[in-house]
Amino acid sequence: MPTLIVVNRQGVERAVEGEAGLSVMEVIRDNGFDELLALCGGCCSCATCHVHVDEAFKDKLPEMGRDEDDLLDSSDTRDANSRLSCQITFGDDLDGLRVTIADED
Ligand code: FES
Repeated sequence: MPTLIVVNRQGVERAVEGEAGLSVMEVIRDNGFDELLALCGGCCSCATCHVHVDEAFKDKLPEMGRDEDDLLDSSDTRDANSRLSCQITFGDDLDGLRVTIADED
């Protein structure tokens, strides 16, 4: 299974395995990172699954949709590497992806 590297809000990094086809949000949540609330369950309506993605993987990620873009605009911690993790499907092409859970708004 491909590996996802997750950095929590304390800066602690942990590598976890994730099933291809799940969203990055689901992989993070299923591995016990309870600071990623993902309140809407992946419907792209809450922005509580906000992560900062590793620059090296930016080109491999699916293009950002308008809803995602609008939701991220509501976050004070948005930066050029911000994404909603529920909008990224995990898989072998993203093996080694490193994401940092964004600070709470
Ligand atoms: S889980 Fe709500 S927008 Fe991603």
